[in-house]
Amino acid sequence: MAEPPLAVRRRSRLGAARKRSRPPAGPSAACSPLPVKRASVGGEGTPAQSPQCDDSEEDMFGDYSGFGEDDSLLAQALAAEPAHPQDAEAAAGVEPESLRSGTDQREHENDSASETGGTRAGDTERGVQTPASDPPGASEELADSLFDELPSSQLLYFAEMRQPSAGSDISAGTEKVDVSKSSSSDKIRSTSSPCPGSEHKNRSTGFSSDLKSDSCKNTSLKDHLKNALTENAKAQTVKVSKTKQLKEAILSEEICVARKAIGSSSVDIGPFYGLPSKVKDLLRQLRGIETLYEWQHDCLTLECLQQRKNLIYSLPTSGGKTLVAEILILQELLCMQKDVLMILPYVAIVQEKVWGLSSFGIELGFLVEEYAGSKGRFPPIKRRCKKSLYIATIEKGHMLVNSLIETDQIGDLGLVVVDELHMLGEGSRGATLEMTLAKILYTSKSTHIVGMSATLNNVGDLQKFLRAEYYTKNFRPVELKEYIKIRDTIYEVDSKAENGFTFSRLLNFKYSSNLKKADPDHIIALVTEVIPKYSCLIFCPTKKNCENVASMVCKYLNKEFRSHREKEKQDLIKDLKNIGNGSICPVLKQTIPFGVAYHHSGLTNDERKSIEEAYSRGVLCLLACTATLAAGVNLPARRVILRAPYVASDFLKKNQYQQMIGRAGRAGIDNAGESILIVQEKDKHLVQDLVTSPLENCYSNLLPEFTKGMQNLLLSLVGLKIAVTQEEVYDFLCHTLLGVQQQLLSKEKSLAELVKDGLESLIEKGLLRVKIMEKDQNSKITLAITQLGKAAYKGSIDLSYCNLLYKELKKGLEGLVLESSLHLLYLATPYDMVSNCSPDWMIYLRQFNQLSAAEQTVADMVGVPESFIAKKASGQAIRKSVDSASVNRLYLTFILYTLLKETNIWSVSEKFNLSRGYVQNLLNSAASFASCVLHFCEQELEEFWVYKALLTELIKHLTYCVKTELIPLMEVAGVLEARANQLYNAGYKTLAHLANANPETLVKTIEHLSRRQAKQIVSSAKMLLTEKAEALQEEVELLLKVPTDIPGTS
Ligand SMILES: Nc1ncnc2c1ncn2[C@@H]1O[C@H](COP(=O)(O)OP(=O)(O)OP(=O)(O)O)[C@@H](O)[C@H]1O
Ligand SMILES: [Mg+2]
Repeated sequence: MAEPPLAVRRRSRLGAARKRSRPPAGPSAACSPLPVKRASVGGEGTPAQSPQCDDSEEDMFGDYSGFGEDDSLLAQALAAEPAHPQDAEAAAGVEPESLRSGTDQREHENDSASETGGTRAGDTERGVQTPASDPPGASEELADSLFDELPSSQLLYFAEMRQPSAGSDISAGTEKVDVSKSSSSDKIRSTSSPCPGSEHKNRSTGFSSDLKSDSCKNTSLKDHLKNALTENAKAQTVKVSKTKQLKEAILSEEICVARKAIGSSSVDIGPFYGLPSKVKDLLRQLRGIETLYEWQHDCLTLECLQQRKNLIYSLPTSGGKTLVAEILILQELLCMQKDVLMILPYVAIVQEKVWGLSSFGIELGFLVEEYAGSKGRFPPIKRRCKKSLYIATIEKGHMLVNSLIETDQIGDLGLVVVDELHMLGEGSRGATLEMTLAKILYTSKSTHIVGMSATLNNVGDLQKFLRAEYYTKNFRPVELKEYIKIRDTIYEVDSKAENGFTFSRLLNFKYSSNLKKADPDHIIALVTEVIPKYSCLIFCPTKKNCENVASMVCKYLNKEFRSHREKEKQDLIKDLKNIGNGSICPVLKQTIPFGVAYHHSGLTNDERKSIEEAYSRGVLCLLACTATLAAGVNLPARRVILRAPYVASDFLKKNQYQQMIGRAGRAGIDNAGESILIVQEKDKHLVQDLVTSPLENCYSNLLPEFTKGMQNLLLSLVGLKIAVTQEEVYDFLCHTLLGVQQQLLSKEKSLAELVKDGLESLIEKGLLRVKIMEKDQNSKITLAITQLGKAAYKGSIDLSYCNLLYKELKKGLEGLVLESSLHLLYLATPYDMVSNCSPDWMIYLRQFNQLSAAEQTVADMVGVPESFIAKKASGQAIRKSVDSASVNRLYLTFILYTLLKETNIWSVSEKFNLSRGYVQNLLNSAASFASCVLHFCEQELEEFWVYKALLTELIKHLTYCVKTELIPLMEVAGVLEARANQLYNAGYKTLAHLANANPETLVKTIEHLSRRQAKQIVSSAKMLLTEKAEALQEEVELLLKVPTDIPGTS
């Protein structure tokens, strides 16, 4: 079938990449000497993607010039607002002729891309309307290429000159800022010390770079040029601010129109799905997205969405689901003026989203707040002016919703978006997600829910649970071809064939007998068909296997592979050495020169980020990875190889298989994709079932995850007063996924019995109590939560150890050793890592002996006598019984304690003979658990008041585990230790330094930092600074507010 204009999209990405180095096509560009030079070079069409130019993915707002630069655009925008919905639809759906013909022409280039079940895109495509006079025209692209030609010193200077002057100044006292009027690039007053680059010396306020540079001392020619440019720039000041005003006027006008449109629940009256057309510009500039896919348009204009009904939508991997969700989010924030919660499956994905959406927030005037790991405020700060987008992991999303219900603010949440909705069926996280959604459904009629996934099967159940409509389409912009390999034969997966496969080809390879032995599965033959020109992922069943595969491949790869992007690979090795304080994993050291690496949870966060970045840029072309890279990740992969149909020792599930192969052929990155599953003869029949079977069903996990699921839910229902009688609790449970599936999932007991048993057990544990209310001689039995119960659900503490936690914290009060953080750390060491810990007794003893006398008493106090450790280390028999959980927990505490002291994962993992990934994981879990303990202690259990201050500090150290001075930099999403170190050494020492940094200067002063990353760092820092500043302003407002009930005043 035909497909949407992929070539257009690809080209637009290049266009977007070019635009990145473009100065605003506004006045300063017009007045600078540039146009002359531009004309002489005539660089249009020059490919922007060179190996060094690694900012080709997304453009950030840095040099975004917006639509306000052209007066006629206001008229256009208004003209594009038709009076009738039908007209609006037409307006949004019609492409200008010029674009259309380009589209048609390019379709021929992409015959292979697929769309099943849809009409021919070229015939019916309804894309985003692109006005013929859109600002980013050819002349600007010409200008871009000219900028590329300039010497870096001049580029740096032009970059400074062309920073737009900021709009409204939110730092100006407590003045209210109407979101509809707020500037897209708010100024933030910075009182901190000046930035390191010379151009920052005289900076007093704002992100704008109206700076005096002292670099001008260098040459007189430069001086001359600079003076001339400064004059030009000054001359434009009025014009720039006019442009700014115009921009704001258009934005505010469009938001008003959009609000009215959505308020009257009509379809798509605003210029861009009810949104300001600036959103469309941003999508083009930041994402390289020119047109929406037909399905995206259809989905966004669904009747049910206009009626604010809940929606589940499902499309194959890489179908472009995120964009629809993001547009819905923006509608809610900007048009409906409501907060939004976006729930994503992993911390790393949350951080990436925060980092990706911050620039939208800055441009469009909303806040992006991170809720992951130990980050997030409960309840969130109530903002007066701006709306918030909370981006959360499943766990933090649940805590956030609890806190909103408790403070009666759940109605402020207009929309909840759940990505990877199939996670509902996955263990305790699935149970937590189910509780979160069920509570929202039950407590807020005005909050609507949108869930998406590529791998759903029993949608009916989910629809019933979420009371949602369903939209699906079998559309994938880049065709994915599925193959399996048995011996040396490749078969294509073909659902129509009798056994699921048809013969495709014989593998073409010439193996020596040695190689045959080393690589019986022909991995080298399979990867060398694509690398180094294209990228390839190999999913392996275990971590060890990843490393082995990477090593084996490199052992036999041709030496020529070493010369491909050699310098960048050397840089990567240098980077990794820096991260490891001089050490680098020997496997990576051997494989990276060939462009190969492994990727699994055994890497530290910093290593993982460096490797992912290098792979995205094509410096690495082959990653041997575990399923950690399987869900929701947008990495390039022409070919995905599944080393075996197993994850650890379990046979692959269909969902896992689909997610893994779905990494191949991502839109906008690759224009083809294929997967090859390596199958042994013995597994052939299982694999036949795998490829032909439907996706697995998604079942409620409230029962299997009893203490984290069902019990936790019952407790919080009473705690939040959502349900306070057994009947009410039962009624609530009927509205869960478990309620929908009860007959399937609980054969022995009815739901009513389960509720009764659950409540009784909570009463037994002292978490709930029974209250008898006497009223009119009738008595009514209600349930109430105890303080301990309340603390437990507030801290999201697993009920299987909440009593133990209470006891240990209580005992700590009797004699907390505060000589160092050791004792406190013990109390914050996560229980759920204890059972998998097996101490090395010699190391245990050595670490114990290094403690001070006071610290050694901690061991005794928590029930681990020195004699026990000594006997264990010397292999003697032990008569006295000692609680092994405390022993293991203290060992983990020793690891954390050493980590906090040395702040070096590498040396600590060597010291304890553990993998650095394990140590990293322990550290992340401890930071997260410590924040749970803080919430446990914080409000309900007054006796634990002292822990509040202590834990707050400890959490900071656990979250970042770096030298204190790096912490402010690492608060910025996506800045990890290695980067923070570089920035700090270059003089960027505070959040304000980063928020006010010039991305171009960053690129020049920070090694291995792409322009895209620099822009993302600056926008995330701006967002964080804005968020913090706003929070303080809220506080000031609150403080100065005159109470209405002052005694003596009427
Ligand atoms: N209309 C569009 N034009 C061009 N590119 C697009 C468009 N919509 C989405 N994309 C790009 O397609 C790629 C895949 O999109 P996305 O991540 O939303 O996929 P997905 O449906 O969420 O897949 P998965 O289920 O694997 O997470 C992204 O790089 C995105 O920028
Ligand atoms: Mg996705």
